[in-house]
Amino acid sequence: MARRKPLVVVTRKLPDTVETRMRELFDAQLNHDDIPMDQAALVEAVKRADVLVPTLTDRIDNAVLSQAGENLRLIASFSNGVDHIDVASALARGITVTNTPGVLTEDTADMTMALILSVPRRLAEGSQVLLGEQDDWSGWSPTWMLGRRIWGKRLGIIGMGRIGQAVARRARAFGLQIHYHNRRPLPGAVEEALEATYWDSLDQMLARMDIVSVNCPHTPATFHLLSARRLKLMKREAYVVNTARGEVIDENALTRMLEAGELAGAGLDVFEQEPAVNPKLLRLARQGKVVLLPHMGSATLEGRVDMGEKVIVNIKTFMDGHRPPDRVLP
Ligand code: DGY
Repeated sequence: MARRKPLVVVTRKLPDTVETRMRELFDAQLNHDDIPMDQAALVEAVKRADVLVPTLTDRIDNAVLSQAGENLRLIASFSNGVDHIDVASALARGITVTNTPGVLTEDTADMTMALILSVPRRLAEGSQVLLGEQDDWSGWSPTWMLGRRIWGKRLGIIGMGRIGQAVARRARAFGLQIHYHNRRPLPGAVEEALEATYWDSLDQMLARMDIVSVNCPHTPATFHLLSARRLKLMKREAYVVNTARGEVIDENALTRMLEAGELAGAGLDVFEQEPAVNPKLLRLARQGKVVLLPHMGSATLEGRVDMGEKVIVNIKTFMDGHRPPDRVLP
């Protein structure tokens, strides 16, 4: 007798090629209208599905998981980060969790580098001069629109995993000196190849850096890692860039310091209360002190298709009775 195809519930619209493959392989319930599921719809999904494919906009917490039906054996997240899933609760219920690491690395590192360049060199502000209502540009001037030089400055990377290392590779080409803080130092050969200096003490690193880039995941241990106290350790002329998760920085403290001129600027692709953005940050962006992007660090067509492929491989491998390649460990 032919095996029943697994019921795979996908919470958001995915690229067409990914959806076509999913339809071929699974009994796929797709979300064509891309209307984010509310909690009731998520509960309905976990009650019926064999596999749930959420994205980072779906909060799969203990309340949702406690309603899961017996069939739900796998949560194959269409995301690298898994902070939207109560992984411990899922694992305790015998539900395997997978993610999509590796395929977002280069795109996210590109966007990080773009912010590292944009903020000190005032890209958004300059563009705004030309796009603004008034004719604000009266021509080149020796003293106008002066940013800060990137070359030779110290970049402190918080979190030296795949993305942090990809940022370091790019930053070296721009003449930045690479420093990093991580739970553990990199193996000697990797550190040497990146010409990177390890700081065991985040506090000490922060005090010395010109630009700080957040590239670590959001976990209970990294929530508000850049706290008000730590942000105050940074130089007034320093910049902060975040393409990881908003929650790693105390956003209110950062905003206050930017308003007070206690930090030179920030480039933020992620926020604590997405999709809401603190109006004070928006005001700072209009003044040109910060560059804000709507969580688009990994948003390339190629990246999204690769993420979809990873999700499919994880589901297929799991359904074939094997350990999926991107299993999230406790
Ligand atoms: C992820 O998948 O965790 C990324 O933040 C998406 O941009």
